[in-house]
Amino acid sequence: MIKISPSMLSCDFSRIGEEAEEIASSGADMLHLDVMDGHFVPNITFGAPVIKSIRNTSNIVFDVHLMISDPLKYAEDFVKAGADIITFHIESDSNTKETIEKIKSLSCKVGLSVKPKTPIEEVFPYLEDVDMVLVMTVEPGFGGQSFMHDQMEKISRLKMKLAEMNKTIDIQVDGGINEETVSIASKAGANVFVAGSAVFGGDYEERISTLRSNATTV
Ligand code: DX5
Ligand code: ZN
Repeated sequence: MIKISPSMLSCDFSRIGEEAEEIASSGADMLHLDVMDGHFVPNITFGAPVIKSIRNTSNIVFDVHLMISDPLKYAEDFVKAGADIITFHIESDSNTKETIEKIKSLSCKVGLSVKPKTPIEEVFPYLEDVDMVLVMTVEPGFGGQSFMHDQMEKISRLKMKLAEMNKTIDIQVDGGINEETVSIASKAGANVFVAGSAVFGGDYEERISTLRSNATTV
């Protein structure tokens, strides 16, 4: 199933609650919330209190992307703030297995992400335990960067591995997704598309619907 997850990183932060509400009523499936700690990535965004403050603006799925060094330590704060799915990086300092178990024990879905230079094979031992794999299509840290085409091969290898295992999970792409790259990523096998600048640069409903139809017509 195709899902569009607009990234709030590109919203007007002075009106983040209204922006979240507007995205939720513009046909998005999820709301992508980029948490950066200035340590795992060279940028700082927002944390659990901000997510909690916008939780009551809609019932949309909160897709929390943790770009932080110690996701195990903070996972519970994000579940309490209202996360429906928490994605963390395999390159973080936390133990991968323990972090997956912690998030699941809090009745939250879990995603595992790889940065562009990390081989996709690193997530293979965890595929039975996660709900989603996020293949980054830019170096994490900033919105508005260019899509890395060379990451598509990783999606194909992941698809092959999942087919071998007779398993279907969500495959998310994040970074540089626009009306053209969405169909490239979709053809490679991704089904969840994060888009920041491509959604917030225009009419939200129109942008989301274009992304969805370009992802569908592969
Ligand atoms: C990058 C973030 C992305 C980013 C996407 O580190 O994880 O979610 O906001 O922004 P665009 O769609 O502008 O590349
Ligand atoms: Zn993200």
